[in-house]
Amino acid sequence: MPELQIVRTVADLRVAVAHYRRSGASVGLVPTMGALHDGHLTLVRSAKLDNARVIATIFVNPKQFGPTEDLARYPRDEAADVAMLKELGTDLLFTPDVGEMYPDGFSTSILVGGLTQHLEGISRPHFFTGVATVVTKLLLQALPDRAYFGEKDFQQLQVVRRMVRDLNIPVAIVPIPTIREADGLAMSSRNRYLSPAQRKIASALPQIMHETVAELRTGLAAAPILAGAKGRLHQAGFDRVDYLELCDETTLQPVPLARTPSRVFVAAYVGATRLIDNWPVI
Ligand code: PAJ
Repeated sequence: MPELQIVRTVADLRVAVAHYRRSGASVGLVPTMGALHDGHLTLVRSAKLDNARVIATIFVNPKQFGPTEDLARYPRDEAADVAMLKELGTDLLFTPDVGEMYPDGFSTSILVGGLTQHLEGISRPHFFTGVATVVTKLLLQALPDRAYFGEKDFQQLQVVRRMVRDLNIPVAIVPIPTIREADGLAMSSRNRYLSPAQRKIASALPQIMHETVAELRTGLAAAPILAGAKGRLHQAGFDRVDYLELCDETTLQPVPLARTPSRVFVAAYVGATRLIDNWPVI
C-alpha cells in the first residue's frame, strides 16, 4: 500500500509542502471533517487525476457548529479514514487538533457578505464565517494549486469561490458533482445518524425533488410548486423543512421562476438529523 504521511502541525505540513514544491510537484487539497464516504473519496480521486501530490485534511471545525448543533457527537473514525485515504494513494493527511488550528488568543474571522445572508446562513448564522475562516487557514497553510469542494454543499462552494476571489488567494477551486446513494440520497457523514425507519423517510427527499425539478422546468411560478413539494415532504415523514427554495445559481437569491441558471435548495429534518441538498433546474 502506498505511503500516507500523517501530520498534525502546521510546521510539519509546511515542511512536507516545501519538499513537494522543490520537486516541482503540483499540489491538490481536499478539506474535510472526516467520517469519509464515497462523496469525499470522489474529491480525492479527482485531486489525484489533476495533481502530482494530494493532501487531505480532517478537522472537525468547532467554529462552524452552533451551540445547539452536533459538534460533540459529530462522527469521528480516524483509523477508517486513514485506511481509505491510503488506498486511494493520498500523499498526506493533515489533521490538526483544535489548539493547533486556533491557538490561545485567536481572534480573526473571515466574514463573506451577500451570499451568506440566506439559505444555510439564516438557520445557521455563524456557519459560513466558521467555514470561511477555516478554509482560508487551510489554503494558506498548504498553499495548494487546486482545492476541491463538493456541489452537495453548493452555497459553501460559492462562498469559498467568492472569498478566494475577494482575497486574491492563489488557488483554483474545483467543483465536484454530488455523489448519491442508489436511491438518490446525497452521501453525507450525517446519514449515519439515521435509523432504518428514518433512512426510508430520507429516501423520499430525492424522489420528491426529482418531481419538483421537472415541474420547475416547465417555467411555471415556483411558489405553488415549492409549497406542494413541502407538503409532500411532510406527508413522507419529514419533521421540519427549514427551507425549500429556487435560487439563482450565481447570486443564490430566490427567483420566482426558472429562467436563468438556477437550483432548488432544501434543508429538512428527519428526527434530529438535518439533511441538505440541491439540484440544478436549468
Ligand atoms: P465535509 O462535510 O466533511 O465535506 C468535505 C467536502 O466533501 C465538502 O467539499 C463537501 O461538499 C464534499 N462532499 C460531502 N458530501 C459529498 C457528496 N455526497 N458528493 C460530493 N461531495 C461531497 O464541508 C465540510 O466538510 C466543511 O465545511 C469544510 C469545507 C471541510 C470546512 O470545515
